[in-house]
Formats: sequence, structure tokens, C-alpha cells
Amino acid sequence: MGSVVITGGAGFIGHNLGLFLKERGHTVTLVDTLERASPLALERLRRAGLPVIRADVRNRAAVAYVARGADLVVHAAAYVSVEESVEKPELYMENNVLGALSVARACLESGVPLLYFSSASVYGEPQRLPIDESHPTKPLSPYGLSKLFGEQILELYRGQGLKYTIFRLFNVYGPGQTSSYAGVVTRFIERALAGEKLTIYGDGTQTRDFVHVTDVARAVELVLEKGASGEVFNIASGKPTTINELALLVRKLACPDCGVEYQPPRPGDIKHSYADISKARKTLGFEPKIGLEDGLRDLILLARAKQW
Ligand SMILES: NC(=O)c1ccc[n+]([C@@H]2O[C@H](COP(=O)([O-])OP(=O)(O)OC[C@H]3O[C@@H](n4cnc5c(N)ncnc54)[C@H](O)[C@@H]3O)[C@@H](O)[C@H]2O)c1
Repeated sequence: MGSVVITGGAGFIGHNLGLFLKERGHTVTLVDTLERASPLALERLRRAGLPVIRADVRNRAAVAYVARGADLVVHAAAYVSVEESVEKPELYMENNVLGALSVARACLESGVPLLYFSSASVYGEPQRLPIDESHPTKPLSPYGLSKLFGEQILELYRGQGLKYTIFRLFNVYGPGQTSSYAGVVTRFIERALAGEKLTIYGDGTQTRDFVHVTDVARAVELVLEKGASGEVFNIASGKPTTINELALLVRKLACPDCGVEYQPPRPGDIKHSYADISKARKTLGFEPKIGLEDGLRDLILLARAKQW
């Protein structure tokens, strides 16, 4: 069993990861400013007896102190809204880039391996599909650029002995996503349960790659077992789903009578995005287990019970 520190541990992915690893018998320490934690995440952590250490990851001494003796630091703390990053690029650079720098240096000082949560947004407009890890990186937003800078910071410190692994996460969904920054899955379910039309930007034929947060947590456990390798992995389902298909599934499961309304495409939205996950399959033994329909069904049940 390992000892894992999770930054952004009160956020959507961080708290689900913390709950998953604790249940699997690992020792978990969560660090977060709580600034963007969802109330549901905090409630689920409270019920599980998992406290959150309130600290900003840009405070390197605090991260180094918490990381001492751990087997892995998972750096999930970041600001995550593409739209907000376009409005406030300085905020994203300050928080995400300096956060990654601070965590990288704290891990180097304390000799603890680092797993960095990067994003599919580092690829920008796909030049080929599915997207593998050797695809060129050309982010289209300050958010994507801030995540790429984070990756490059780790590469810089590799020379000084930093041990790390990078996950490029695609569209992660699951319980505890806050609606203000939530992705399309949460927004569709909220609308469907309110009996409202689902809004699709563009014609709905655009594809995304939806991966359940529990599958992401399984991938993290594989890194904990196998050790940090200095490599980059796409973590996704490896399957394209059109937004029309997603809307159809959500309607079928939550509100068959709900209609769909089409709005003009949002500027900067890419048309297609889905991952080649063969590297994670081969190297880590990663295999996504939760199909989209099953994941959505569970989420809708939780939402109906007001526990998502
Ligand atoms: N959700 C996705 O689909 C997705 C996709 C690709 C990558 N990612 C990456 O995964 C990570 C987690 O994303 P999420 O969806 O859980 O976001 P989230 O907003 O739910 O969680 C992020 C957490 O980080 C905390 N935080 C932000 N800045 C901090 C700082 N300076 N110090 C300490 N805590 C801080 C926030 O309070 C929040 O609780 C992020 O790094 C994000 O870039 C997420």
C-alpha cells in the first residue's frame, strides 16, 4: 500500500481519486485552497473521514512538508475553465504555471515522484485522429498553454533528478463536478433532470472522448504500483462519442421527452477529439472499464438522490 498526496484534493477529480485510493487501502493526504471545491466533494470527504489540508500549492515549503515520506504526489490543483482562461490569462498563468513549478521543486527537494495531470487541450486542433502522445502540441487557449508549460517544467527538472509521469486527461466525467466549470456531461444531466432542453453548440457531430473518473483513478494506482517513468500518457476511453450521441443517451436515461436545441458553435471549439490510448494500455496495463452508458446511468441515479 502506498502513501499519496493529492493537490487539488477537494476538486472534482482530486476528491474522487482520494476516496478511491483510501478505499483501496492507501494512505491519502489532500491539499487544496478550497477556493473551487464543490460542497458535495467536501461533504463526501467529510463522510469518508478524509480531511483536507488548506494550502496553496504555490507555497513550496508547505508542499514539501506535506510530501515528505510519500510514495507519490499527484498534482491535480489548477484552474480548469477554458473560457475563463481566455478572459483572465494572467490568472491562469500565475496559478497553473507557478503551481506546477512549486510542486515540481517541492518533489525534487523531498525526492518524491510526481504525477502531473495535464490535459488533451495541449494538443490544440488535431492534425490526425486518434490523437497519440507524439501528436504536436499547439494549445488554443491560455488554459491549454498553462498545462503545457507545466509539462515542460517537469521536463526541465528531469535533468536534476525529478521523477515524474504525465497524464493527458481527455473529458473526465463523474460525481462532484461543479456546474460553473463542469463539462457537457454534467450540464446535460442537470438540464435533463430539470426537464429542460439540452443545448448543443454546433451541429452535434463533433466528437469527444469521455472517461469516467474512476478509470482515471485506476490509472493513477497503476503509476503508484509501477513507479514514475518520465513518460506522457493519454488517459481516456479511446472511443469517440458525438455530442448528439451523448445527448441521446442522457435523454434516454433521464428525460426521453426533453428536446435538444442547437446554438451556433462556440468560437475555439475543436471539431473532433479522441485519444489513442495504446501506450497507456501497453506500458501501464490501463484498461478503461466503465462504459459511457453505465457511467451516465450511475451519475443520473446519484443526481436524482442529490448525491452527485
Ligand atoms: N475534468 C476534466 O475533464 C479534466 C480534463 C483534463 C485535465 N484535467 C486536469 O485535472 C486536474 C483536476 O481538474 P478538476 O476537473 O478536478 O478541477 P476542479 O476545479 O474540480 O479541481 C481543482 C482543485 O484545485 C484547487 N486549486 C486550484 N488552484 C490551487 C492552488 N493554487 N493551490 C491549491 N489548490 C488549488 C481548487 O480549489 C479545486 O478544488 C486539473 O489539473 C485539470 O487541468 C481535468
